[in-house]
Amino acid sequence: MRLLALVPVLLPLVPASAQEKIDFDKQIAPLLVSRCIECHGPDKDKGDLRLDQKAFALPEEDSTIVPGKPDESEFVHRIELPAGDDDIMPAKGEPLTEAQRKLLRQWVAEGAEWPENGDKAIAALLEAKSIPKIKFELPELQAGEQAEIERTIAALRARGAVVQQVAADTEAIDVNFSLLRDKVGDAEARLLLPLAKRLVWLDLSRTALTDEGAAHLGKLTELRRLAVAKTKVGDASFQSFAKLPHLQVVNAYGTGLGDAGLLALAKSASLQKVYAWQSQVTEGGAAAAREANAKLALDTGDYAEARLAAAEKEIAEREAAKKAEAEKAAAEVQTKDGGPINEKCPVSGKAVDAAFFVDFDGKRIGFCCGKCKAAFEKNPKKFADKLPK
Ligand code: HEC
Repeated sequence: MRLLALVPVLLPLVPASAQEKIDFDKQIAPLLVSRCIECHGPDKDKGDLRLDQKAFALPEEDSTIVPGKPDESEFVHRIELPAGDDDIMPAKGEPLTEAQRKLLRQWVAEGAEWPENGDKAIAALLEAKSIPKIKFELPELQAGEQAEIERTIAALRARGAVVQQVAADTEAIDVNFSLLRDKVGDAEARLLLPLAKRLVWLDLSRTALTDEGAAHLGKLTELRRLAVAKTKVGDASFQSFAKLPHLQVVNAYGTGLGDAGLLALAKSASLQKVYAWQSQVTEGGAAAAREANAKLALDTGDYAEARLAAAEKEIAEREAAKKAEAEKAAAEVQTKDGGPINEKCPVSGKAVDAAFFVDFDGKRIGFCCGKCKAAFEKNPKKFADKLPK
């Protein structure tokens, strides 16, 4: 009996039925924010389309959303394309679910109502989604240092580095050289020195960096995160990194980090995490580091590698399946829509005219004229040995 009494309370949790009117703020705005606005919003307007404000999403002319007419709306057409179609939206990630597609279609069918506070609802959702603000206490700059920093940033960018602010409201800088691989190395590490008061994140993974260049990194005293994965950096360098007063995360995957370097890092008061898989660290060394600093998150397993390999395998398999499917589809189209398999009419022996054909036994057979075609259709067996094998 008690259970029965609960039923009316549970009912409102059942998904909105098709008859219920769509609520823009609760149903549409979150979906646009989570799946569309990253490419169609304040940061990017791919295809000249913004879906974060009514004025852009529903212009007076040439609107991609045609209120009340889902079938005339490019907006609806794009999301309903089959998975894998070049034009499907979202252009990235999983297609929308069936329920999400229906929701957007129904919203357009009901007149694509965009309430007065709709823009604000979206802005609030975007704000909540944006990266958390990170505060950095950074040293004051002396006269001329800002100009020097700007020159350095320009020089680094000229070498292909990605240099950016860590967040909108900070002067803290993030430099990433990892995409350039072994085209950069020790010389570039030295270029970083004028950034010392602002550089908080640095990634030199997979570059040609050696201990010689790494010696400069010991002077980048504001560093919080340092990644030198898959470089030739050796144990002595990690001992010098351990002296960086704010360093929190070190990625030493696939480097010469050894037990002594790890122990030095573990004893640093600021350090929180070390990635040490495929380094020279021994089991005993890892245990000693954990003992020296119980709070240190030490990643020594190679499961991350295994995970990566599994993911790569899955992607390769999916690609292969996709390719096989495409080839199959192409083959089908060819037999269905391609020309006839024969050059000579099986009835008259004359050249085939493309206007006369029948699809027989999975093959397209051509004829020279309508009469021959009719003769064939009456008794195909009679002409079977005239067809190419
Ligand atoms: C990863 C980026 C990305 C995401 C996410 C994305 N789009 Fe797009 N969209 C594009 C690009 C790029 C174009 C322009 C090229 C084209 O037209 O295909 C485009 C074009 C469009 C167009 C055609 C514009 C026109 O001329 O009318 C529509 C409609 C559209 N997107 C709707 C959506 C909707 C709805 C979503 C969310 C469900 C979405 N997109 C998510 C990248 C994206």
